[in-house]
Amino acid sequence: MKGMVFTEFLEMVEDRFGYSTADKIVSESPLGSNGIYTAVGTYPHGEMLSLVGRLSEVTGIEASGLFYQFGKHLFGRFHSMYPSFFSADMNALDFHARIENYIHPEVFKLYPDAELPRFVITRESVDVLVMEYISGRKMHDFAEGLIHGCAAHFKETVSVRKEVISEDGSRVKFTISRGADGN
Ligand code: HEM
Repeated sequence: MKGMVFTEFLEMVEDRFGYSTADKIVSESPLGSNGIYTAVGTYPHGEMLSLVGRLSEVTGIEASGLFYQFGKHLFGRFHSMYPSFFSADMNALDFHARIENYIHPEVFKLYPDAELPRFVITRESVDVLVMEYISGRKMHDFAEGLIHGCAAHFKETVSVRKEVISEDGSRVKFTISRGADGN
């Protein structure tokens, strides 16, 4: 997993839970990197699971909720870090429609060792988009946070239905409907 994901995560932890919590989870998690991350480096995905797991124990918030919060937060950061992926006339559903064929492939050009999920995307109508998330890293809560972060960025109200397709969390289907009850 790219170092940028770790540095952004630890900054979010510091902002929301304080420096001492960020320091505590780094020093108390088993990390081969010793918690020293550079944005362009690559580190084992397991280190993210350890950090989130420890943060969950320290804060009492479930790991799934923490991954969700991180995804929602990170989308806003993506807008600052990668402005070229955004254009003024886009909306949230159009943005999601471009992840698999444009955005993640561009990310892959920037970081050839990025470990990205696969999405099967179906635009059911102008207001409904179905995204099937497929990844052995099982970060569907993070994906859900990114989906809501995207809607917040475009100031849109969407409802997101989530269906687990594979019990282990490696395939999850999101149905995103625009204009329905926000959540
Ligand atoms: C500007 C928009 C986006 C950028 C720049 C971006 C970039 C990235 C990067 C750099 C990673 C980390 C890869 C690694 O650590 O090896 C990543 C992973 C991921 N991205 Fe995106 N992404 C964007 C939008 C989205 C959106 C909207 C979603 C979901 C709906 C999404 C879903 C994911 C997930 C779930 C992962 C974790 C890896 C996995 O589950 O296998 N991304 N993305």
